[in-house]
Amino acid sequence: MGTRTRKFGASRREGHDASSYYARKMHDVEISTDTSVNPPPADVVDRLICHSSEDMHELPDSCVSLMVTSPPYNVGKDYDDDLTMDEYLGLLERVFTETHRVLQPGGRACVNVANAGRKPYVPLASWINLLMIEIGFLMRGEIIWVKGRGASGSCAWGSWQSAANPILRDLHEYVLVFSKGRFDRVVKGENTIARDAFMRETLSVWEIPPESAKKVGHPAPFPVELPRRLIELYTFRDDLVLDPFCGAGATCVAAKETGRRYAGYDINPEYLRLADGRLRQTDLRW
Ligand SMILES: C[S@@+](CC[C@H](N)C(=O)[O-])C[C@H]1O[C@@H](n2cnc3c(N)ncnc32)[C@H](O)[C@@H]1O
Repeated sequence: MGTRTRKFGASRREGHDASSYYARKMHDVEISTDTSVNPPPADVVDRLICHSSEDMHELPDSCVSLMVTSPPYNVGKDYDDDLTMDEYLGLLERVFTETHRVLQPGGRACVNVANAGRKPYVPLASWINLLMIEIGFLMRGEIIWVKGRGASGSCAWGSWQSAANPILRDLHEYVLVFSKGRFDRVVKGENTIARDAFMRETLSVWEIPPESAKKVGHPAPFPVELPRRLIELYTFRDDLVLDPFCGAGATCVAAKETGRRYAGYDINPEYLRLADGRLRQTDLRW
């Protein structure tokens, strides 16, 4: 017999029946029965597109299986405008509403983001979680990406060995994971994830060293390993993977290397040239 959600303490979970938990008023969520999908148009597949992803008219509704992206953080990088919080969330809302349109039912959206500042700390991840839920996404989970102890060369610990004003130094970023309308995919295909990778990547803490901005030539690239894991966990071979803030193309490179197809948007032609160069050097692994 399977376990049930306990009224006191936590239970083991074997063949777990969680129906009493999901019957609670907090879970007033509608799961869509929509199964309509469109094939990605041939002229968009494996393309880098140079304009704002606030409008992704090249992509029809419900054709993308997975979005993996890292948006601008609005913290003063080369590509950042100096936006107010309202303007910044407005940009993300327009892009992620377009993303919701182009995702298949059950398609997934993964947003890599770090929190910013200290005086006060700006919880960008919390803002984006609320924004995505408001747009209509269902949240699936939150991955803590530990960039490693070496990642923080920061000595900004505030008051040294004193309670006067010590400051936390983040070693982590987030990957926030959502689904459109339902949790399971409506279109199935060939899996490529290995057993050990599946065991490791269904855990919520991932340790991956950061990418060198200097080596890649982009102010804030993420390592190809990050989208590679998300792609193998959440998509089948040949699925279309979208990055609406493509930068130097790590998501597109990971998609190509794992036998998926990609579409990448960026407003900066220099970054897309860089992405194109990296894609040309990529050989299919599968
Ligand atoms: C954090 S970076 C992405 C880096 C990428 N993950 C990589 O590994 O190279 C954000 C990117 O968003 C781009 N960007 C900013 N506003 C945009 C918009 N409205 N539409 C498309 N791209 C935009 C910037 O040019 C920048 O390259």
